Amino acid sequence: AFKSRLFETLHLLDLNIGSYAAYGGWLKAPDGPRLKSCNPATGETIAEVTLGSEAQYETVLDEARKAFEEWRLVPAPERGAVVRRIGDALREHKDALGSLVALEMGKIKAEADGEVQEMIDMADYAVGLSRMLYGNTMPSERPGHRLYEQWHPLGPVGVITGFNFPVAVWSWNAFVAAVCGDTVVWKPSPKTPLCAVAVQHLCDRVVAELGYPGIFSSFLPENPELLDRFVRDPRLPLISFTGSTAVGRQVAVKVAERLGRSLLELSGNNAVIVDETADPDLALRAILFGAVGTAGQRCTSIRRLIIHESLYDNLIERLIRAYGEVRVGDPLDPSSLMGPLIDSAAVESYRSAVEAARRQGGELLYGGRVLDRPGCFVEPTLIRADNRWDIVQRETFAPILYVMTFRRLEEAIALQNDAAQGLSSALFTLNLRAAERFLSASGSDCGIANINAGTSGAEIGGAFGGEKDTGGGREAGSDAWKMYMRRQTNTINWGETLPLAQGIAFFA
Ligand code: UN1
Repeated sequence: AFKSRLFETLHLLDLNIGSYAAYGGWLKAPDGPRLKSCNPATGETIAEVTLGSEAQYETVLDEARKAFEEWRLVPAPERGAVVRRIGDALREHKDALGSLVALEMGKIKAEADGEVQEMIDMADYAVGLSRMLYGNTMPSERPGHRLYEQWHPLGPVGVITGFNFPVAVWSWNAFVAAVCGDTVVWKPSPKTPLCAVAVQHLCDRVVAELGYPGIFSSFLPENPELLDRFVRDPRLPLISFTGSTAVGRQVAVKVAERLGRSLLELSGNNAVIVDETADPDLALRAILFGAVGTAGQRCTSIRRLIIHESLYDNLIERLIRAYGEVRVGDPLDPSSLMGPLIDSAAVESYRSAVEAARRQGGELLYGGRVLDRPGCFVEPTLIRADNRWDIVQRETFAPILYVMTFRRLEEAIALQNDAAQGLSSALFTLNLRAAERFLSASGSDCGIANINAGTSGAEIGGAFGGEKDTGGGREAGSDAWKMYMRRQTNTINWGETLPLAQGIAFFA
């Protein structure tokens, strides 16, 4: 059964896997170094992909530039119509692509399908956006003058994504960039190359069928120098990077050095505060989804739980019971609630984080063990901890939830903000004053702040991203599209004289 499901899923790839730098057709490199894609639930190799060489990289970049020159002249609503067709193709292949995401990345099928749905939503959003790339008109101080701004396509943009959302985060960037008139060069995670191959194929098919140039391309570099070149490449006016703070910092410096634009979606260390008035059932469900969902491998996963001390015993007891009911297993088995971690390195960082927390004096409330079976499975884990500990201050991409308590709301907000990262945050309360305080200027310092909803599972449409070590980028909603365009301010003098701004008299 597994084999046939695998076959069905891989069908989507056209099995053109010997060749992995793509542009309007796949560039063949039969002798290039290869990368194995592994199933984290079994440790077995699913397939191998060939990595892209320097020469292929040059071809990809040249083609992206050429395609941009054509694409930028296609009217934006027409560009939107192309994205609409891609959305249709994603609807058609949602089940297969979702299965592939579950197979290669390890999130459970329900969440993997949700990720594909997020791409579909993003496509719909981008279609609408393609008619709403508004510029302002301002009243000119000069008679007979018109002053306004317009937004032009920016250029080919580089998009680097992580393994944890192997398809959706690309679509946040790519669909918006496409309606903005940009072309996209994607460097997916080497941990999830097949997901990228599948998405690339799907888009290639639609774009070619409609007769447009290859606006989307992707490559995996055969060495780190090539990745460095990509980030430093002046032909890419924007680099959108999703990944850790440590790597993001290097990307930011390299891009800044050439005065390029970078859009950074980096680490989170997200907290949920549960106050004494909170609806405990609601809080419990949100915490479970946020901390255990995607095996704690979302940048928005709940990592810290800050509970009012009066609720602690009761909520922890219920959480422990709920954790005990989490079925850990094959992500394609509908009864699994939590799949494996991505690879053995992730298992190792889970193990060492649990170990570090215990050494600091952490009380293990639930879990803490690596499961003794094939694949990268660990137990969902609850640890009573102190916010100041190094390990609590660090983002470990694993289902570990650090629990702490508070007495007064100010204290809880201070704890929540006392982290280097500033992505997502949430307060569970039925107290209006507490809610408003949490959302006020002196409340949560994160890019995302929720009331009675967890930190993860944001819908598209709102700007997604965070402050501080999270990098400050915003994607997937609101006016995030502006990052993918260049603004031009225009003054038109339709009068017959030449009045100068600031009333300057300048006569010979
Ligand atoms: C990520 O983990 O990189 O809000 C993105 C969420 C998802 C996106 C997460 N919609 O959890």
